[in-house]
Amino acid sequence: MASEDEKGKEAVPAPPPGRRLDRRDVLLGLTTVPALGLFGYAWVKQRGYEQQRRAAAGGAKKAPAGREINVALLGAGAQGQVLLDSMLRIPGLRFRAVCDIWTEYNQKRVVNTLRKFKFEVNGYEDYREMLDKEKDLDAVVVASPDFWHAPHAVDCLKAGKHVYCEKEMSNTLEGARSMVLAARETGKLLQIGHQRRSHPRYLHCYEKLLGEAKILGRIVTVNGQWNRAVSPDIGYPERYAIPADRLKKYGFKSMEQFRNWRWYKGLGGGPIVDLGSHQIDIYNWFLGANPSYVMASGGNDYHDPKTHEWYDTAMVIYEFETKEGPVRAYYQTQTTNGSQGYFENFMGDQGTLVLSESEANYPGFLYRDPNAPPWDGWVQKGYVSAPKVQEAKPEGEEVTLDVRESVSPDLHRVPVVLRDPYHQPHLENFFDTIRGDAKLHCPAEIGYETAVTVLKVNEAIEARQRLSFRPEEFRI
Ligand SMILES: NC(=O)c1ccc[n+]([C@@H]2O[C@H](COP(=O)([O-])OP(=O)(O)OC[C@H]3O[C@@H](n4cnc5c(N)ncnc54)[C@H](O)[C@@H]3O)[C@@H](O)[C@H]2O)c1
Repeated sequence: MASEDEKGKEAVPAPPPGRRLDRRDVLLGLTTVPALGLFGYAWVKQRGYEQQRRAAAGGAKKAPAGREINVALLGAGAQGQVLLDSMLRIPGLRFRAVCDIWTEYNQKRVVNTLRKFKFEVNGYEDYREMLDKEKDLDAVVVASPDFWHAPHAVDCLKAGKHVYCEKEMSNTLEGARSMVLAARETGKLLQIGHQRRSHPRYLHCYEKLLGEAKILGRIVTVNGQWNRAVSPDIGYPERYAIPADRLKKYGFKSMEQFRNWRWYKGLGGGPIVDLGSHQIDIYNWFLGANPSYVMASGGNDYHDPKTHEWYDTAMVIYEFETKEGPVRAYYQTQTTNGSQGYFENFMGDQGTLVLSESEANYPGFLYRDPNAPPWDGWVQKGYVSAPKVQEAKPEGEEVTLDVRESVSPDLHRVPVVLRDPYHQPHLENFFDTIRGDAKLHCPAEIGYETAVTVLKVNEAIEARQRLSFRPEEFRI
């Protein structure tokens, strides 16, 4: 079998008999350029991405020797664990405390894990006690349920800590607003956990493909989705059930509600907030605008509304007024069929970009519209891969195509792959900013704009009306 290097030495592939070598063949051949070929270039580029950004934000300084960051995790559930797994890969962090009200289960698990890694950590049930006792903390990573984000983040900021807070920033706009104000008043950092903002593929698309190359031309429509198959409610081991008085103290009516808080009004926001906020955040970011209008249809079409108070299905249309003109953006989330998973799709008059955080399903596809100017220059720069010719008709099948059939666009790839866990770059960005080596990718003000955009969907569903956004709604 040929090694990668040997494959790289292959010549430009010969065209089929009777066809001359054309631009496409040459570009296809270029993908196999040896050593620093296009993909090698893209790989080097990707690795250098964060370093470049750090350098641009104030010099690629190393953390001063001994300048470790003392960190606490507040909320040690499913996402707390995911964040911890990423943080354990980041040098220079010293874990000091874990706060979680499920002391006998989640808190214990994470404290034990950290002790295995030789960290001297204390476990707390009440975050206020943690803030009182852990005077040396520099930063708190908050991964509690959404309705706790505002009190947790605000009190941590006021205690002089930098905060990384998971999305959704808050389940209410008042909560989100109090977080922005606390960050401003204290001068402490508040990063909201919209992790795609630090994903190298998203950054490449934003900065190089849309910003520099304007590769899609004028974006006119966007669509995206997060479809999930039906899943049973989240359970818990009976013997570790939290006593009722403790549940009540922290705002939960039962263990069932404690485990499935996302579905309950006043605690979470349902799938549009839980899933949609990630992707709708990208709509605003890539379009460089906040929406002007939203209309939405949704309901509790499948699940039992007693245990699933929020809408299990939401279909949303935003209207944006961008610098280039109007854009309509559709978004769908439903929890009864996981078909085609999750992605965002930006369509311009010169091409289409389909991307997702999912490395497996939509690692970044670009389709060049047949009428668009050639992308050869961008292929040569390594910004997009060489094209793969689309099949004009299903292979091996005798079909008759209409002569007016549209020509299939060429398929290119976004040649940037994230090899670290999905959350690592965003956490790194937070810790680098604490050290003064970077700038937050999702500061409180951006998280707030996304919260305004997303929370209004539930309002629009309830109102059964097209609702407008006033520009000042996005500002504090
Ligand atoms: N960025 C992402 O991709 C992503 C993915 C999943 C979840 N999240 C977010 O992470 C957060 C947590 O979600 P999850 O799936 O881990 O939920 P979870 O229910 O699994 O975990 C929440 C944890 O917080 C603890 N907790 C609850 N109230 C508390 C309080 N007052 N003080 C201290 N601890 C408390 C619970 O005991 C539990 O261990 C949510 O805001 C969610 O939206 C983000």
